Amino acid sequence: MSVGTTMGSERLRNDMVDRLAADHAAKGLTLRPDVEAAMRTVPRELYTPDKPLEEAYQNTAVVTKRHGEQSVSSVSAPFLIAEMLGQAADALEGLEGRHVLEIGSGGYNASLLRELVGPSGSVTTVDIDPEVTDRATACLAAAGYNDVTVVCADAEQPIEPGRRYDLIIVTAGAWDIPPAWRDQLTDGGVLVVPLRTHGMTRSWALRRSGDRLDSVSHRQCGFVPVQGAGAHQMRYIDIADGVHLRLDEGQQVDSTAVADLLTQPRQEAWAEVSLPPRTVLSDLDLWLATRLTREVEQFVVLTAQEAAIKAGIVAPSWQFGTPATIHDGTFAYRSELFWTGRMFDLGAYAHGFEAAAAAGRMVEHMRKWVDAGCPPPVLHVLPARTPDGDLPDGTVLDKRHSRLVLAFTPTSEKGIH
Ligand SMILES: C[S@@+](CC[C@H](N)C(=O)[O-])C[C@H]1O[C@@H](n2cnc3c(N)ncnc32)[C@H](O)[C@@H]1O
Repeated sequence: MSVGTTMGSERLRNDMVDRLAADHAAKGLTLRPDVEAAMRTVPRELYTPDKPLEEAYQNTAVVTKRHGEQSVSSVSAPFLIAEMLGQAADALEGLEGRHVLEIGSGGYNASLLRELVGPSGSVTTVDIDPEVTDRATACLAAAGYNDVTVVCADAEQPIEPGRRYDLIIVTAGAWDIPPAWRDQLTDGGVLVVPLRTHGMTRSWALRRSGDRLDSVSHRQCGFVPVQGAGAHQMRYIDIADGVHLRLDEGQQVDSTAVADLLTQPRQEAWAEVSLPPRTVLSDLDLWLATRLTREVEQFVVLTAQEAAIKAGIVAPSWQFGTPATIHDGTFAYRSELFWTGRMFDLGAYAHGFEAAAAAGRMVEHMRKWVDAGCPPPVLHVLPARTPDGDLPDGTVLDKRHSRLVLAFTPTSEKGIH
């Protein structure tokens, strides 16, 4: 590498980290100094050798492998890596001297972890795909990180049997928590995992306490899916040009019927609430999911391409994943925010039979969340065998290996459940 390229790389890297710090601040988060220092040190371009230098320092994932249209491996987006490392380091009060297992290898995150744990810690990275582990091994060697252990295996099963880790950080989208992830943690150890509940993925930092895990933080995120024994695919169905519903494996929806509903006139309802600064609206989406799944036929997630939104076919709250319902011949979803001239308001749009009532019902749940003080969700993960009576309060989601409980604790006096 020439001196010019090295200087270019350093400048681009520092610019990227400056943008990450600003992005964190805009979200009300702090980029931890230890994470910041690691990101200013590791040359990301050495993990994306087939791409132009500039691309390595954009704040996006760099896809390294696809199966058809589906991305199956990538070097993750820097902002997401920074947020997840921050979650891990906050939960463990720093990573120095920690023993870490990373699930999903690209090399880049493993080298950042190597910087963070220092000489007295250790990093093992595992990937199910030998092409990925070969690539990660070569990139780590080129970058001089020869002390990362790279393993090729399905991480559904224990890695390095008998070892316990202070931190397991999963960098693929999971649908469930296999027992091995909990059992390989020290007691008090932390699992950071992008986990899908109700079709929406959040990166949860979960602390182990005996045979349960309890969340200490969460962030909105998206990831390539877990493969192998724990694979649980999402599906997309078309309901209009550039408009899709994201369904969980096994979920059945009549796409033609929803497409017909969408052509019917739109009704709307508004919550008429005033949102506190920096309200985390992705928390509202999980609140809506836990409430609406109890009362509608289908809770689904709406996604839309920019062109479909511009054409006015739908106006969702977030193009990459908006809570939506199908019930009694009506399709409803959380709308984009509405600027009243004084404040942003929350609302719902609905199409079909009794659409106004469906929009009103969704908006009522939004009001209750705001009245409760916009509480964040908390996640508890218990073994599948846990009897109902031993579960904490909240909405229970049964998965194959675990019983998940999502709970919201009202933070204001007006809070009602
Ligand atoms: C987003 S990439 C990992 C990014 C990486 N951590 C980085 O440094 O940027 C996700 C990886 O998870 C891997 N993966 C998916 N399912 C897995 C499993 N069951 N066990 C181990 N690795 C898995 C995929 O092969 C893919 O390479």
